[in-house]
Amino acid sequence: MKTVLYPGSFDPFTNGHLDLVRRAGLLFDQVIVAIAVNYQKSPMFSMEERKSLIERCCEDIVNVKVVMFRGLLVEAIERFEAQAVLRGLRAFSDFEYELQMALMNRSLRNSCETIFMTPTQENSFVSSHMVKEVAMLGADFRPYVPPAMIPAIEAKIKELKMEQK
Ligand code: PNS
Repeated sequence: MKTVLYPGSFDPFTNGHLDLVRRAGLLFDQVIVAIAVNYQKSPMFSMEERKSLIERCCEDIVNVKVVMFRGLLVEAIERFEAQAVLRGLRAFSDFEYELQMALMNRSLRNSCETIFMTPTQENSFVSSHMVKEVAMLGADFRPYVPPAMIPAIEAKIKELKMEQK
C-alpha cells in the first residue's frame, strides 16, 4: 500500500489543493491530507474546522483521509505510515522554501522523500493567503475554492469584520 502524506496549513483549502489531492489519488493507493500547525502563521480556521471542511471538499475521492498533527512532519510520516511527502509547486517563487523544507526533513530523517506536483494552469496562481486577502477585501473569492468552503469563508469573514468594529 503506497501512501503519500500531503501536509499543509490549508487555511483555507483551495481549488489548487483539491486539484493536487485528486491527481495524487490517481498515483497513490492512499492520500493523507495532514493539517499541520505552521508556527509562522495565525490561522483563520481552527484545525478541527479545517478537518471537517476538507473532508467535505474531498468526499467524492475514495482514497483520501484527513488528519491533523502537531510537531514534526517527519514524525507524522512515521505515525501515519506514509512513504513520501507531497507538496505543490506553483512557481519558481515556491521553490526556495520548498527545497529548504524538503532538505531539512531529509536531514532530520534520511528516509524522508518529498514529491512535488504542479497544479493545473488555472490554479497556478491560487494561494490560501491570496484567497483570504481577496475575501477580506470584499472581492469574489468563490472561483478559487471548492463549493463546500464558500459559506464557511463567508461566515468567518463576517465574524472577523464584527470583531474589528
Ligand atoms: O501550507 P504551509 O503553511 O506552507 O505548510 C507548511 C508545513 C505545515 C508543511 C510546515 O510548516 C511543516 O512541516 N510543519 C511541521 C513542523 C516541522 O516539521 N517543521 C520542520 C520542517 S520545515
